[in-house]
Amino acid sequence: MRTGLLEIAALTAGYGATRVVEDLSVTVPPGGRLAILGRNGVGKTTLMATLVGQTTRHAGRIALDGVDLTALPSSRRALAGLGYVPQTRDVFRSLSVEENLVTGLKGRPRAALEEAYALFPRLKERRRNNAATLSGGEQQMLSVARALLGRPSVLLLDEPLEGLAPVVCDQLMQALSAIDMTVVLVEQQIDRALEFCEDVLILDRGRAVHLGKAAAARADHALLERHLGVALIG
Ligand SMILES: Nc1ncnc2c1ncn2[C@@H]1O[C@H](COP(=O)(O)OP(=O)(O)OP(=O)(O)O)[C@@H](O)[C@H]1O
Ligand SMILES: [Mg+2]
Repeated sequence: MRTGLLEIAALTAGYGATRVVEDLSVTVPPGGRLAILGRNGVGKTTLMATLVGQTTRHAGRIALDGVDLTALPSSRRALAGLGYVPQTRDVFRSLSVEENLVTGLKGRPRAALEEAYALFPRLKERRRNNAATLSGGEQQMLSVARALLGRPSVLLLDEPLEGLAPVVCDQLMQALSAIDMTVVLVEQQIDRALEFCEDVLILDRGRAVHLGKAAAARADHALLERHLGVALIG
């Protein structure tokens, strides 16, 4: 059976008593790709952090392949199959590239590192370098590669393209396109996100204001203008 069915039902979450995400429901099928779009501060990162158990959940349910994750701590959610690449790029700056990758192995043999190097040859070239010396794009590759080494069934990506040059964005999106798993992608680069994903969820002030097919949203300039304040070119 194909894995990676992510179900989010009536989720309300925030920080302590503060509610940031309100009554959110969405399902991503195994191997599906969901884009999450929204202006700054609407709660995209809070939603991702809630999925991995790093916020206060007030109500609702999160399930992966039918297993309820809601009561589990972050570490158990990762073991259950959630791979998370946070907006902050999760690399250990004082460790080498390879040492960073090793922390993502989760008990797998060291030979599995070759999977990361096959996906991102640049990381192999730089494997002995300190992560602090990497470019932004290389750090993002490292962060993604490390998450993938844990063999998640769902990959959560929070603004992976932020601050990267267009050519580096191309490289990263190309590598991500080769990955066959469920992906939830938060992105400000709307056209790239809608091209990569089948479905799109638009958030405004913590609530879902649109859920539908990415291709339809791409063609609906009024929708994008209304909720994101942008018009796609072309
Ligand atoms: N640790 C925290 N404690 C309290 N409030 C927080 C915390 N992190 C974020 N917030 C608040 O939650 C709201 C949503 O923030 P969040 O980071 O989820 O937005 P976002 O959509 O990811 O924004 P961006 O596009 O800038 O990344 C904001 O009002 C923010 O100030
Ligand atoms: Mg964010």
